[in-house]
Amino acid sequence: MRKVGIVGAGQVGATLAQRVAESALAHVALVDVQEGMARGKALDIAQSLAFLSSPAEVEGGGDYSLLEGSSVVVVTAGFPRKPGMSRDDLIARNAEVVRDVVKRACDAAPRAVLVMVTNPLDAMSWLAWRVSGFERHRVLGMAGTLDCARFQYYAGRALGVPPSEIRCMIMGSHGDSMVVLPGYSQAGGIPLQRLLPREELDELAARARDGGAEIVSLLGSGSAFYAPSAAVFRLLKAMMEDEDSILPASVLLEGEMGIEGIFMGVPVVLGEGGWKRVVELDLDPEEREALTRSAEHIRGQIERLKENLRF
Ligand code: LAC
Repeated sequence: MRKVGIVGAGQVGATLAQRVAESALAHVALVDVQEGMARGKALDIAQSLAFLSSPAEVEGGGDYSLLEGSSVVVVTAGFPRKPGMSRDDLIARNAEVVRDVVKRACDAAPRAVLVMVTNPLDAMSWLAWRVSGFERHRVLGMAGTLDCARFQYYAGRALGVPPSEIRCMIMGSHGDSMVVLPGYSQAGGIPLQRLLPREELDELAARARDGGAEIVSLLGSGSAFYAPSAAVFRLLKAMMEDEDSILPASVLLEGEMGIEGIFMGVPVVLGEGGWKRVVELDLDPEEREALTRSAEHIRGQIERLKENLRF
């Protein structure tokens, strides 16, 4: 069985560790600056497997050497937002964290695929790629699968079918400028545009976009973690089982969709060793304009990071 490394034993990291271990997708190494918390949660998950018939081994601690031999390292470390904050408000604090942990993680697991979860997602994924020195196919940010999961939930409820019946595509930044594409969304193979009126589709898109903030404000402290960890799990499964599935992820674009030099959410073919290619979509003028706005927003964040971190 292969190994998944997880940096950050907070809610997203620990819940992901649980999902990976329980499903026997891989062995798990959980690393956190709070060493005791990482060890304690890993031990707790490992002991739970007595009732779950999974042979996965789960280790935890503060030492990055635990990550050695990982096929994939997922970085969840960083500060979550507080009620009223946008994901972008976290950029300065989380850039310091990401720069440090990615360097250590890549030294320990130099052949791993790196999956970023820390917000603001697209800018932090760019930073991770820059710090890692990895080739671009081995670095991706998890956002689109989560945003799609939220859209699938609301669309499923609107149609009275389970969320798993819905397929959808969301591009752009994991933030207020994300671009939901109802024209590429379906229920049981039927385009959603044939099943729901335009206004209702717009409402579902807004709920997917604001889904994270809604949970932040309900929780009062911390942000969502069940759906985010499930969304990372979906990406891990595609890679571990070499599915070559088409899933949205934030990746470094080098001219695909006419965009260059930034990480942004696009559909990619995902399998063993990371993402293999971007699936380019034909967008209508309104969608294209929204995508350009989203790309410019991310570009501004990356420029700020370059200045502040003196890259
Ligand atoms: C959210 C965080 C993970 O959308 O960005 O809940």
